[in-house]
Amino acid sequence: MSFVITTPLYYVNDKPHLGSVYTTIICDAIARYKRLLGEDVIFITGVDEHGLKIQRTANEKGIEPKTYCNEISEIFKINWKNWDISFDKFIRTSSNNHELVVREFYEKVKRSDDIYMGVQKGWYCVGCEEFKDNPEDSPTYKCPIHQKNLEWKNEENLFFRLSKYQEQIEKMINEPSFIEPIERRNEIINFVSRGLKDFSISRTNISWGIPVPGHDNHTFYVWFDALLGYVSAISCNATDNLLENSINGGWPADMHLIGKDILRFHAVYWPAMLISAGMRVPKKVLGHGFLTREGQKMGKTLGNVLDPDLLLSKYGNDPVRWYLIKDISLGNDGDFQDRRFVDIINNDLANTIGNLLNRTSSMSRKWFDNKVPNNEKVSKENKLENYAKITVENYIHKFNIYKLDLAANEVLSLAINTNLYLNDNQPWLLIKEKNKLPFVKEIIYNVLESTRIIGLLLLPLLPDLSSKINEQLGSIYKKEVPWEQQLNWGLLVSNSNLPKPNPIINKLEYE
Ligand code: MSP
Repeated sequence: MSFVITTPLYYVNDKPHLGSVYTTIICDAIARYKRLLGEDVIFITGVDEHGLKIQRTANEKGIEPKTYCNEISEIFKINWKNWDISFDKFIRTSSNNHELVVREFYEKVKRSDDIYMGVQKGWYCVGCEEFKDNPEDSPTYKCPIHQKNLEWKNEENLFFRLSKYQEQIEKMINEPSFIEPIERRNEIINFVSRGLKDFSISRTNISWGIPVPGHDNHTFYVWFDALLGYVSAISCNATDNLLENSINGGWPADMHLIGKDILRFHAVYWPAMLISAGMRVPKKVLGHGFLTREGQKMGKTLGNVLDPDLLLSKYGNDPVRWYLIKDISLGNDGDFQDRRFVDIINNDLANTIGNLLNRTSSMSRKWFDNKVPNNEKVSKENKLENYAKITVENYIHKFNIYKLDLAANEVLSLAINTNLYLNDNQPWLLIKEKNKLPFVKEIIYNVLESTRIIGLLLLPLLPDLSSKINEQLGSIYKKEVPWEQQLNWGLLVSNSNLPKPNPIINKLEYE
């Protein structure tokens, strides 16, 4: 059985922003974690290329939408490589294979008698690619997400009979594990309780989209098309029976990780479409919060957009990952603050984890001929071993329920406690007493061993830093041995060589 996890398929109207980097990093950490547990992971990301928004962006630049999309999709791919994102599938909704999936799916939905022609009137936000249905929606009302006026639309569209699925959707969203966190679930329960309305799935006068078979001037509504990208990503090598191929290849998704603004599409419209086509619904939709900068919404008008490329080139991958994973509780909104960023990286990564590794490996090298000391067991009780065992258990539990910030904090608290253990035992004083040598060996062995476990626990969260830590201990992660087994205490080899010291993380300066 596969574990299928997806990021949203990002609009190509711009290059990746901090919000897209955030979601993709979280998915990457979860995908890496599941792989470490031995699961067969399919990590899907990609781009959403059709629709009015993209057509207009390309027109404004004076290029063909396809040429424009080719360019930006490449930027997305390169970006994810630069961020060391371990995706398995990158889907482009302008690909031939995706078009085949959309057509095949549409035929199934039609066969369920869920498509009819109607008239769609209403206020539309091109940024959201969504009709708005609040009473205040009018020409002067600005979409709170995009800060742009809505546009009036009145056209003949094909509709999907969402209303038919009211009961099934209600049942599904009442299942606590389906939508997380609970605040998001309640929002959706509230929305669905007002009664589901059919929604239009085609557009006239938009050429940049997938043509609807049998309806000359209609293209599929971008969301109808885009959601199916998750399915086509899995069937990307097939040429016929694509839906079947996707089902055999791992569908349904185990988790869609998305921002809270696109929850309705994923937790209501999408499952109904799938039920109509006789396919299984995703197992979980996790809606994360929004990122602000220094307490303010990021936007071009405010001129405060944080460029993820700059962050990456200035600080590197690990610090940004750590901040986003550890400082933001998944599901809540988060704020990026420059000073807080510097403080957290310096405190957690440089002073606590980096310093722990430096001081212990240098003591060990100095006192034990550049080697790990023998694992002497002179004390009756090994407090650090007990603490490490509890940490591993807590960490696994927190990760399994997708509390990644708490899992990161577990690692940090093991590092803090390991530093305290060192300070309490003061091996630098004991080394001066000859009869205390076995005890010193025991202390140093314990601290090195605890650091090895810290390194391994960081593997899904901060893959770079993790390998640096374990390299410095001469104890790298072995792919052929189950990761959980390697988290057992006492595996650091006594008397093994410690490599030459190399700084693993630099302290940051305030600007
Ligand atoms: N193309 C659709 C998704 C289709 S999925 C089949 C889309 N794309 S998007 O590029 O506009 O947004 C992608 C994601 O970025 C969404 O999950 C959205 O919530 C997220 N974010 C946009 N701004 C954000 C922040 N400031 N902070 C965190 N995430 C934010 O929607």
